This record gives sequence, C-alpha cells and structure tokens, in this order.
Amino acid sequence: MSTATIRHFLVDTDLTQAEQTEVLDLAAAMKADRYGYHPYAGPQTVAVFFDKTSTRTRVSFAAGVAELGGQPLIINPGESQLGHKESIADSARVLGRMVSTIVWRTYAQAGLEEMATHSRVPVINSLSDEYHPCQLLADLLTVREHKGKLAGLSMAYLGDAANNMANSYLLAGVTAGMHVRIAGPAGHLPDEAVVAAARDRGAETGGTVTITSDPSEALSGVDVVATDTWVSMGQEDEKAERVKLFGRYRVDEAAMALAAPEAIVLHCLPAYREYEIAAEVIDGDQSVVWDEAENRLHAQKALMAWLMASSGLAAAPSLEEGARR
Ligand code: CP
Ligand code: NVA
Repeated sequence: MSTATIRHFLVDTDLTQAEQTEVLDLAAAMKADRYGYHPYAGPQTVAVFFDKTSTRTRVSFAAGVAELGGQPLIINPGESQLGHKESIADSARVLGRMVSTIVWRTYAQAGLEEMATHSRVPVINSLSDEYHPCQLLADLLTVREHKGKLAGLSMAYLGDAANNMANSYLLAGVTAGMHVRIAGPAGHLPDEAVVAAARDRGAETGGTVTITSDPSEALSGVDVVATDTWVSMGQEDEKAERVKLFGRYRVDEAAMALAAPEAIVLHCLPAYREYEIAAEVIDGDQSVVWDEAENRLHAQKALMAWLMASSGLAAAPSLEEGARR
C-alpha cells in the first residue's frame, strides 16, 4: 500500500502556486484531448454528494469522472445518512473502502475538514459556505486562455464580498500571483483570517490584496471583472435587504467603463440579470462566462487526476499522455 500522504482540495490554498500551475497545465492538456486520460480506469467510483442544489457542478463531475474512465455516483440532497443519521467520520471511513475520491457540496467548511481527516481517499470541496475552490480553477484556466498569463494581472470581484466566491477569488487569485481587489459594503467584506491567509500567500507569489467598499477603486483599469449572486444558497430569506445593500456593486456598462478596455468578465453562474450583473454585460463581448462554465469540466478532471497521483493512488498523468494514445 502507498505511504504517500492523501492530498485533499478543501480550500484554494491547499495548492501551492506551482501545484496550481500543474493542475491548470494538465487541464489544458485534457481539454486538448478530452478522452485520452483514464486515472479512474476500472471503472473506479467517485462519490459526489450534494447538500445544496447544482447544475454545473453536478454535470461537470458526472461527465468528468466518466471521461476519466470511472463511474460517478451522484448523491442528491436528502439521499444519504451523511451528517445527520451518521457521523461524518464514520461515513468517511466507509466511503474510503468503496470509492476512489469523495466530492462534497455542503454548508460548513468544518464538515469537509472532518471528512478529510477520516478519509483515506482524496476529498474535494465542490462548494461550502466559505469557499468554492473548484470554480476558481475553472476561472483561472479561463483567464489564462484569454489573457495568456495569470501572474501580474489585476482582478476585481464586486458584490457580496463575504461569500464563498469572494474568499476563493482572494485565495486562488493571490496563489496565482494576481492583484486581487475585493469590493463590497461594510459588514459584507472578507473575514480577517481569510485576508491574512491571502496576504501570506501573496508574500510568496507577488500577489496582492485590496479590500475596499468603493467599487470604482476596485474597477479602475482592472484586467478581470468578476461577480456572483447577492443571495447565496441558504440566504434566501435575506433577499430583500441584500438587493438594497449590494445595488451599488452591480456590474453594468458604467462599471465596465472603469475597467481596462480589454477587460474580461467572469460569473460562476447561475446569474441573476439586472441584479449583480446587467444583461448587456453578461451577454456582451467582454463576457467569457460560457468558457468559464465549460472549464469546470476540464479543471476538475485535472484536479482529480492530480490528487490521485499526488496521493500515490494513480500514475502521474503526463501532459503528453493523451497525445500518445
Ligand atoms: N457555478 C456553480 O457551482 O454552479 P452550480 O451551482 O450550478 O453547480
Ligand atoms: N455564492 C453562490 C455560488 C453558487 C455557485 C452560492 O453559494 O449560492
């Protein structure tokens, strides 16, 4: 049996800058040869749990595991014992004897940490209240495709600056050596601990962090503009007050006029046109959101293959693997 430490992906900073680059390079290779990599040959099973609803994450993991030679097992909200009829630790012990990877969309990050502590296979966070790191791998792959690089670029996120996407933009962006600007109203800015972690990572990569309540400061001359819903899953009761609070941070044509002329626009989707983003922006020339959505598939395939190899559970995938087929 392998003695390698099992690698998990629970938060963006679980990958160093060099490792993040390896995953993105592998994603590009897998995108170029979509059916050429089979780390889950067997077929091995990947369990994909959902405590919250999903379209992109559900479909991209299901398709991605199948394309890697494996079998996805999708467990929808309310369909398992996990976390309510059985402890997370006991579920992790059982799952690790049956599946090769565990993917989980849930509420508290602490649950994912407990799962990873007791799992002998990689655990992947496919969205928690705190982070959405798989989305950021797709976003960075998209930025790299359109801009040719990541380090040194500036990226602004506007809106609910205390949500999972804001935290992940901050952590994944500085890991890539980007200058990340986060703008939202007071009381809805990233937690101090997340900002400190981002600054620490930035000290290693050259990435920087700006936290502001002034949308113009975040947008001025920026290369990449990103936003997300103002009402995340689990916050539906707060919709009316949130719509009032975040209105100033809408990504519309006036906002885009402040960004660099060649700026691109990201949104993880689902989007709420005329709330966080204007229709003419998301449906306009600067929007790359459909590439971004597709890249969930390629980025997550690369992540799964990389985690399996780094954990000693599969052969290291080669960037030429598909080409040799
Ligand atoms: N962006 C994203 O995670 O979409 P879903 O909620 O549809 O999975
Ligand atoms: N912040 C959003 C992201 C959805 C993909 C949410 O958590 O609902």
